[in-house]
Amino acid sequence: MKRVLFVCLGNICRSPMAEGVFRRVAAERGLDLDIASAGTGAWHVGKPPDPRAIAAARERGIDISGQRARQVSAGDFSDFDLIVAMDEANLATLKRQAASHEHPRIRLFLEFASDAATREVPDPYYGGEDGFAHALDLIEAAASGLADHISGSNG
Ligand code: 4NP
Repeated sequence: MKRVLFVCLGNICRSPMAEGVFRRVAAERGLDLDIASAGTGAWHVGKPPDPRAIAAARERGIDISGQRARQVSAGDFSDFDLIVAMDEANLATLKRQAASHEHPRIRLFLEFASDAATREVPDPYYGGEDGFAHALDLIEAAASGLADHISGSNG
């Protein structure tokens, strides 16, 4: 089974939403995947997602309230087949932490969104509610492309 890890900074906004959306997309497509999320930072370890992320996901029928934040660990780079960063800063942090032979499995999430106008899912933490809806729009587009990518590579 392929394992996919979504990574942002705090693991309370973007990557929990990505995990929730991708769980649904994988289920809809019948893809048997192990899906998780983590943060490069440790501030929120053990906490549920931000209430605004829970609410924004719930509006799209996705329940992420049971998730708990954790920090990326060294073992993740060998445990996961694909480690998907929400922005360039997360990508750079992950590549610094990983061994060079693990770099090919570390990717930017929006690479998989064929028509995205940006390469990054912007951090919604310090903004208003619409930052979360905007992040979800980008996440949904990339989740679909990522599912295509995984299906195309025969699981
Ligand atoms: P996330 O958002 O990386 O999408 O989970 C953030 C959450 C918390 C912080 C930064 C970004 N923080 O600095 O506490």
